[in-house]
Amino acid sequence: TGLVTLDSGFGNTSSVKSEITYLDGEKGILRYRGYPIEQLAEHGSFLETAYLLINGELPTVDELSAFRNEITQHTLLHEDVKRFFEGFPTDAHPMAMLTSVVSALSTFYQDSHNPFDERQRYISTIRLLAKLPTIAAYAYKKAVGHPVVYPRNDLGYVENFLRMTFSVPAEDYQPDPVVANALDKLLILHADHEQNCSTSTVRLVGSSQANLFVSISAGINALWGPLHGGANAAVLEMLQRIQAEGGDVDSFIRRVKNKEQGVRLMGFGHRVYKSFDPRAKIIKAAAHDVLSALGKSDELLDIALKLEEHALGDDYFVSRNLYPNVDFYTGLIYRAMGFPTSMFTVLFALGRLPGWIAQWHEMITDPTTRIGRPRQIYTGVVERPYVPVEQRG
Ligand code: CMC
Repeated sequence: TGLVTLDSGFGNTSSVKSEITYLDGEKGILRYRGYPIEQLAEHGSFLETAYLLINGELPTVDELSAFRNEITQHTLLHEDVKRFFEGFPTDAHPMAMLTSVVSALSTFYQDSHNPFDERQRYISTIRLLAKLPTIAAYAYKKAVGHPVVYPRNDLGYVENFLRMTFSVPAEDYQPDPVVANALDKLLILHADHEQNCSTSTVRLVGSSQANLFVSISAGINALWGPLHGGANAAVLEMLQRIQAEGGDVDSFIRRVKNKEQGVRLMGFGHRVYKSFDPRAKIIKAAAHDVLSALGKSDELLDIALKLEEHALGDDYFVSRNLYPNVDFYTGLIYRAMGFPTSMFTVLFALGRLPGWIAQWHEMITDPTTRIGRPRQIYTGVVERPYVPVEQRG
């Protein structure tokens, strides 16, 4: 073990060279392929961002239209996929359904198992981008006990997803442009974040040359945890708990500072950002805009603002460089849009999908890639002789 260094949580270890996402944690900078996320979120669309991440350049008008057409042709799920949803318990978590069904896609598309075949990589990419919103909407329908709504290919990517989610047979849902634009922007802001836990998982699984579907499924599992993508749901649950206990922000902050087991200020802190999370800045403004455009007020937003103000003025948080991250305000927007808390991390997965795919492509096409195989520092007993069971005291 002489040459092996211990680096808990890979805080200081890089195992890849990447051209996809530039992140400066000290200055709070995030760029996809060199483009600042502020500009992409302001002027771009999610699909062109997905194209950019995966292909390296922003698409021309023709390229974007071909990409969009190709995706819309694959939005439908095989009818047998519906039976998976019938088999899940009614209270199944949508993230569990999402990861299971994405993994199961590898049983339907066995023609896409060779990661070294460029055509197969391409078609798996298109299928995933096209089908994840349909799977997500089916998971929502399962949770609320409604019949599934099939995709409609004359609608945009986000509008189609909103319709598949919120339309019911009694009433055809017309996506609100405010909601559609805000969701598109949020997906852009989630689209990649270099070597985070789920992306590293996708790369690690993919480094064994497993197919794209199962690599992405593994990433979805990693995203689910409350320290990663699951934080957006955990924030809302935290705000609701504070509200139920009378809205006492000070006493909650005291419990966080006392490090009571399991009590953290969710939606705060980041491994890499040490001054601010540039995504959180945009999302905070969007939360205000969406709530006021939809004519909604939310007492939980007031609690969130109070928590933020308190934490930013408190030495515990300041000295540890803890600032609001991407997850602090997203839940309030998703709630205003009508999503239940259990769907929040699914929305994160929809946004992160192009990043996972881009990173998988980069990994698999790099001739220097080796199977991911971390080392360890062994701390157990070095050697002892076997004792037959009847002689063990
Ligand atoms: N509330 C209270 N204390 C915190 C928090 C928090 N949210 N985050 C970190 N700390 C403290 C931690 O107790 C430790 O204090 P001390 O030095 O006294 O032991 C110090 O700050 C460093 O924490 P750490 O756990 O070593 O930091 P990390 O880089 O390993 O973890 C993190 C990063 C994001 C997991 C963590 O900040 C956290 O648990 N935040 C809450 C969950 C969250 O919002 N996650 C979403 C992250 S952004 C989007 C994404 O990844 O999906």
